[in-house]
Amino acid sequence: MTNKKLVFAGIISFATIAGCTYKKATNCVPSNIVTYTNAIAKIMSDNCTGCHNNSNASAGLKFDSYANMLTDAQNKPNFMGSINHNGFKAMPQGAAKLDDSTIAKIQSWVNGCMPE
Ligand code: HEC
Repeated sequence: MTNKKLVFAGIISFATIAGCTYKKATNCVPSNIVTYTNAIAKIMSDNCTGCHNNSNASAGLKFDSYANMLTDAQNKPNFMGSINHNGFKAMPQGAAKLDDSTIAKIQSWVNGCMPE
């Protein structure tokens, strides 16, 4: 390999590792079946963003953009715990628990490393 090729390979592997570290939640396996764009954005806007947005961030949490989901939902046990009414403040606040298939979608998005 020439030096140039080695440097290039180095950049690519660093980018891959850095990208993975940034997006990876605990115990997730990358999957693109449920994405923010194809499912999660609508579930959040139907049920959560009224109280969790940039100007009204209840509990400091914003679920109104993909970037905000990565910081505010990632690796937080209370995110799925609240949705499952399981040991954390039950969400959506003051409304019925989300139906099982919606919760399963959110869970598989989290398990799939929260793809965009
Ligand atoms: C009607 C307003 C409202 C809606 C809708 C709502 N939340 Fe909340 N949420 C709140 C408030 C207010 C708090 C802070 C509660 C407290 O501290 O008592 C909160 C707190 C939370 C917390 C932190 C819980 C904890 O125990 O630390 C999470 C996680 C959360 N919400 C997720 C969600 C998700 C996910 C949805 C949609 C499924 C949602 N919320 C919908 C108002 C809402």
